[in-house]
Amino acid sequence: MEFVIAPLRSVFSCIYNIFRNIFKAIYVWCYGLWNLLWLIKELLFGKGTLADKAASVGVQHAGMMFLRAFLPTIVLRKKLITAYENTGTAVVTAAEDVWEVVNQDEVFLTAYAPKMAVLTNGSNFFLGMQNTPRYTNNVSDLRLAANRDDIPRVITPTVSREAGQIVAGAGGELDLPQQLTLPVMAQLAEEYFGTTGLSKETLIQWTHAIFRYIFFDFSEEPAVKDPAAQAAKEMRDYLDQLIADRKAGPEKDDVLGRCLKLQAAGMPAMGDENIRDNFLGMLTAMVPTIPNAAAKILDVFLDKPEALAGARAAALADDDELLLKYIIEAFRFNPMNPVIFRIAARDYVVAEGTLRQRTIPKGTFVFAANLSAMFDPWAVSSPQKFDITRPPEDYILWGLGLHRCFGEYISHAALPAFFKPLLQQENLRRAPGAAGHIETGQGPFPWHFHIEWD
Ligand code: HEM
Repeated sequence: MEFVIAPLRSVFSCIYNIFRNIFKAIYVWCYGLWNLLWLIKELLFGKGTLADKAASVGVQHAGMMFLRAFLPTIVLRKKLITAYENTGTAVVTAAEDVWEVVNQDEVFLTAYAPKMAVLTNGSNFFLGMQNTPRYTNNVSDLRLAANRDDIPRVITPTVSREAGQIVAGAGGELDLPQQLTLPVMAQLAEEYFGTTGLSKETLIQWTHAIFRYIFFDFSEEPAVKDPAAQAAKEMRDYLDQLIADRKAGPEKDDVLGRCLKLQAAGMPAMGDENIRDNFLGMLTAMVPTIPNAAAKILDVFLDKPEALAGARAAALADDDELLLKYIIEAFRFNPMNPVIFRIAARDYVVAEGTLRQRTIPKGTFVFAANLSAMFDPWAVSSPQKFDITRPPEDYILWGLGLHRCFGEYISHAALPAFFKPLLQQENLRRAPGAAGHIETGQGPFPWHFHIEWD
């Protein structure tokens, strides 16, 4: 009998899959249309400026759902991004295609080099380097200086200690970025990287001005570029002096101390200026990011009572691994960077052989929409559901490929260390009124976010 049943089963499964995919496609189109209508309503009648609306995660989700349904890859011959040499603009939204773009670092090149040159006085930082020996030397040295053993030894204890003390002394209310996450990250920079003799406020101001210029400026806006160039100059001067002082003083076991040991051992990419530029880049990548992520994640938790309850249970059980799953899933709904950008080194056909196939011409500035990829129903099951059991490949939160985040594991340790003492409080909630919602500052960064507990 099996020789009859097996082919029949295959035929039925085939028919089932065809119908399932047809219904799914109809659902995706209807949902895309509904999102287009919502988007039009929001853009015409919603509160705030057009820039505010474009920055809102609801608008980003809706726009990407519409694009994914009808125009999964748009290629415009028009040069919309003026901060970089390019020949046009593309937006890639389907999950498979986002993976295809970001994983191919020989075709889709990192764009940041010109901005890094402004910030490092003509040099580069490895996020702005292509896949070259220079890139590998820089990353390898820094991986030795800031190695993964430090995470349980230094990162988790430092953030836990500082965050625990701040929450315990806060009297049931605090402004998350200003009182907790930003000062603790500046403290971590001092203790772990060795940035002594610098006020927390100065480090925070420098790194935010520089971060804003690298990641949020697409037109070389003088109001963004000039403060970043000034901050970078002051930071370089400070770091030059710090390096000179440390070389003249006693050895210390922090990231700077280890860089100096690697220099003494004759390692490549460890000259004084190289160490300085790597510190400029690393501190800029570290101080603004984790506070930004923490605010967005808490915002999601406070909108989703079940997720908040689950995360709180994990915090009370002291289960960091489980807590991290809640944190990462919450972050999926509101990631720090909804897009990753690259420049096409040659003409390239994305999604070749599918109905989505599009040619991206050489020189195009490409936005690979990782937010969209994480909500693509063709790749991620029940994307709108808060589900902590998702496989790791559903997430693109710390990048992909060559330039995948250097600090991913630092973030995986620091975020639970921030959230644990907060979630362990009774009745964690937003402060009343506008104060209980994220207010941006220094450009697009979550700058104030008041919360309370009993
Ligand atoms: C929640 C916090 C963080 C998020 C969401 C995040 C996100 C990212 C993303 C998306 C990229 C890739 C950018 C691209 O491909 O264009 C990246 C790269 C990078 N990140 Fe992070 N990051 C975080 C924290 C950190 C921290 C704490 C550090 C340093 C200690 C750091 C250092 C870096 C560096 C150096 C790169 C460049 C890596 C390379 O070019 O090989 N990041 N990050």
